[in-house]
Amino acid sequence: MFKKRAAEEPEIFAPGFRRFAGTEGYITSAPLEQAVNAAIALERPLLIKGEPGTGKTVLAEHIAQGLSMPLLRWHIKSTTQAAQGLYVYDTVQRLHDSRFGDADVSDISRYIKLGPLGASFASKEQVVLLIDEVDKADIEFPNDLLHELDTMAFDIAETDEHIEALHRPIVLITSNNEKELPDAFLRRCVFHYIEFPERKLMERIVRVHFPAIEAQLLDDCIATFYALRAVEGLRKRPSTSELLDWIAALKRAGVDTSQLAVKLPFLGTLIKSERDLEQVVATGRGRGY
Ligand SMILES: Nc1ncnc2c1ncn2[C@@H]1O[C@H](COP(=O)(O)OP(=O)(O)OP(=O)(O)O)[C@@H](O)[C@H]1O
Ligand SMILES: [Mg+2]
Repeated sequence: MFKKRAAEEPEIFAPGFRRFAGTEGYITSAPLEQAVNAAIALERPLLIKGEPGTGKTVLAEHIAQGLSMPLLRWHIKSTTQAAQGLYVYDTVQRLHDSRFGDADVSDISRYIKLGPLGASFASKEQVVLLIDEVDKADIEFPNDLLHELDTMAFDIAETDEHIEALHRPIVLITSNNEKELPDAFLRRCVFHYIEFPERKLMERIVRVHFPAIEAQLLDDCIATFYALRAVEGLRKRPSTSELLDWIAALKRAGVDTSQLAVKLPFLGTLIKSERDLEQVVATGRGRGY
């Protein structure tokens, strides 16, 4: 589980601190790794922000993989409420059973369904819990989670049960910055902003997804990609996931990438609005072959 640093990089942390060091499928920067390991050591949630498509969600999968732990996901929507993450009491099923079934409806525990947060506390082994896109929910949502995230315990009123985490889950919370998060919530988290990868790091990320990519194709694509990101006035600059899609399309189509400075095939994988398309075309690059 412990990965060695490259020979030229001295190990500055105590043995055992560096539990997460990326995986073969996920390239980390040193600050990201340190944030993950600090959150693990402090047993605090890690709040991850960054441009869309910079690997926030996938990070949770790779922390789980790297630490050999199960991953529980809680994908937040505009209607999600904090209590649903702990458990829901399925009264509809109980009513249905009492009318049409032969199940024992007096046993209420059969109708208590743990949500991802509740399940992560109840788990016998330590798990990684992803609370994805926390900013999608109502403004009160993060505040409603504070108590349970602090105590890692909750009560099920209907069955008079108290559930307390045997092992505090490793909690990763992602946000796209759609809403400001409350200070009381922020105080409890370790925070990390995924900086947009610089070229060298991006090359390594691309190679994870396309191990056999030819050096020239990689060079051409990366150079064009960063040139596109630098076009003034883009509303939405293309990010890592879009670069990966673009390379996949170029490879499938067998495009000669030496012409990318003047012609940009599959621009729709990179640029997602007509206004941004116009901005790019105004720089003198053609859209297609
Ligand atoms: N550091 C990385 N190493 C390997 N792959 C990466 C890395 N960063 C991003 N990717 C790839 O980019 C794609 C997008 O990642 P992901 O869905 O996690 O982004 P996100 O930040 O959650 O985006 P959004 O904010 O839109 O939800 C995935 O295919 C992922 O594998
Ligand atoms: Mg995501």
